[in-house]
Amino acid sequence: MSPELLADPYGGYGKLREQAPVVRGQFMEGGPVWFVTRYDDVRTVLADPRFVNDPASVPGAAAQDIRKRLMERLGVPAELSRYLARGIIDTDPPDHTRLRKLVSRTFTVRRVADLRSRVEAITAALLDDLAAAAPGPVDLIETFAYPLPITVICELVGIPEADRPVWREWGRALVSMNPEILPDALRAMVDHIHDLIGRRRAAPTDDLLSGLIRTHDEDGDRLSDGEMVSLVLTLVLAGHETTAHLIGNATVALLTHPDQLGLLRRDPALWPGAVNELMRWCGPVHLVRLRYAATDVELGGVTIRAGEAVQAVLVSANFDPREYPDPDRLDITRRPGGRGDGHVGFGHGAHYCLGAALARQEGEVALHALIDRFPDLALAVDPAELAWQQVPGARRLAELPVTV
Ligand code: HEM
Repeated sequence: MSPELLADPYGGYGKLREQAPVVRGQFMEGGPVWFVTRYDDVRTVLADPRFVNDPASVPGAAAQDIRKRLMERLGVPAELSRYLARGIIDTDPPDHTRLRKLVSRTFTVRRVADLRSRVEAITAALLDDLAAAAPGPVDLIETFAYPLPITVICELVGIPEADRPVWREWGRALVSMNPEILPDALRAMVDHIHDLIGRRRAAPTDDLLSGLIRTHDEDGDRLSDGEMVSLVLTLVLAGHETTAHLIGNATVALLTHPDQLGLLRRDPALWPGAVNELMRWCGPVHLVRLRYAATDVELGGVTIRAGEAVQAVLVSANFDPREYPDPDRLDITRRPGGRGDGHVGFGHGAHYCLGAALARQEGEVALHALIDRFPDLALAVDPAELAWQQVPGARRLAELPVTV
């Protein structure tokens, strides 16, 4: 977590990948943690059942529970932290399998596909506002990249329109990691979701929350209210920050690679593949939840002992030349590459991003419409001046000034 690594994660993790592919390091205020940087090893950490997400299930690992310590430092009381620190992503089979099965019954491919026309309409309305601000400069993060996914996820889940501005504030407070505002925002969100569950139970609609309430498996198993609150929180948090920064990062990538942008302008059929390559090349999520070795594991020439924490470094795996020839080159016509299902920007294995299809759809609709609508779209600052936030685990811009 050195300033050098935060300033240049591609170069820094790239050096690790070539010189010390599985290496012990410090992770934020926690640690020590094994950093795993090669594509094959990253996939092993994410899919091999010898690595688990819940430290409480491994003797000796609980002391390494960085999230628990983080919640304490942020002043989040225990009755609230369980919603954030004990969600779907913190569970292992069979609990994880059960949760994922129940949520997948209502968060379906069909539901995402049905949402497409709404994503297009929300995008078009935001672009109208941008056009009104022409010629700019405007901050694309604030005016477009952020409002789009938060509106979409609220609509999907069923957060009433009137409550969305305050949800946006709460969402920001949660990702701010600021102990002065985070606990109150979390409490307000939890209370609000409980209240919403009550209202939807009394009068169901066709939103995801009503679906979650209705869902049960063939044995009659259902999600508890606490599980639903945690799920909704996870969906809203995981579903907007990430997608917003995919849109921001990908816009910069295209504007600084006019040859690739030209290909897309000439042949719109390239868009789905382009979004996949943009996720590989400038995906917003660099690190994932820590995993813990459930038993001693040999990996990359070292022995990871039972109970030790492991960090899979997605950004490095996606640039591993063993999988991606000429990995530094942005090539929107690149075949998916990687093993089977391609890059690991959305993770891999049982915890593979639940919202990947939605994120891809939003990314494609947003970028395609933005590029079509504003043929003169340009960065309003020199690319070297862009304000990349130096935060561990994420690639994101504080602001993105453009002219339209
Ligand atoms: C999991 C990335 C958008 C919901 C993940 C993981 C990654 C990821 C890397 C795996 C984490 C791990 O294994 O520790 C992204 C990126 C996105 C995005 C880069 C946007 C570009 C979304 C959206 C939603 C969402 C739109 C919801 C609608 C989730 C959930 C999980 C998850 C619920 C946990 C799944 C589980 O534990 O089974 N995401 N995500 N994500 N994501 Fe996303």
